[in-house]
Amino acid sequence: MRKPILIANWKMNGSLHSNQALLVRMLAKLRPFRKTIDMAICPPFPYLFQVRDLLGYTGIALGAQNASRATSGAHTGEVSATMLHEMGCRYVLLGHSERRALYHESDDDVAARFQQVLSAGLIPVMCVGETLEEREQGWTMKVVQRQLQTVIDQCGMSGLAGSIVAYEPIWAIGTGRTATPEQVADTHRAIRQFLENCETGAGQSVRIVYGGSVKAANAAALFSSPEVDGGLIGGASLQADEFSNIGAALANTVNPVTSTLT
Ligand code: 13P
Repeated sequence: MRKPILIANWKMNGSLHSNQALLVRMLAKLRPFRKTIDMAICPPFPYLFQVRDLLGYTGIALGAQNASRATSGAHTGEVSATMLHEMGCRYVLLGHSERRALYHESDDDVAARFQQVLSAGLIPVMCVGETLEEREQGWTMKVVQRQLQTVIDQCGMSGLAGSIVAYEPIWAIGTGRTATPEQVADTHRAIRQFLENCETGAGQSVRIVYGGSVKAANAAALFSSPEVDGGLIGGASLQADEFSNIGAALANTVNPVTSTLT
């Protein structure tokens, strides 16, 4: 049985003041779901320390938004996976489409970062997804498989099997345009089949989460398929009520009695 996970990707947003206000409200509202689902917050690097302290013993994990492909040394502006581990991170987002598109991270680059994250004892959250043009051409799985295969080639299937896969169609990120629950379920099922073909059992054990304009209003529908093990939430994770209601919708897939929308 895969435990659902809800991950907040704050992207490059926040301030000491706003983070504090957001988390105080959010943590209180997420409290009822802490045992039912896993949760993690990925703030920008400078706020890791602050968020770690605020998360305290809530059981909600800390995550980072990227990690360097280098171990240490002359890499100005980079942050190593070992440093993130020392800061108390448990998860690291990798290969986010914004990193790929805006900062030219190639598949090989992402795989090298993935290896560093694994070596540091952290859990990679491997983001994959296609552009609108690729979807319309029918290339979704071709693109997603290429992205996953590069990691398998560099880190082995055992590396990928220990990660979380986040399916984030690029055309649905920050656009307000969400993939339909059927599109999400179909793609997750195809990713599972691919993983299963690579290693027996991996298709069932790896958590696959969806990201792309998830909101409280559409969360229940998106999470309704058993193929979907949670969400990677951007904009809505900056609003305490929205994010906690998404958490309620996810917890509701496991335990409908105790998880009510607030
Ligand atoms: P939005 O939820 O803002 O569409 O962002 C999704 C995302 O990129 C999460 O990593």
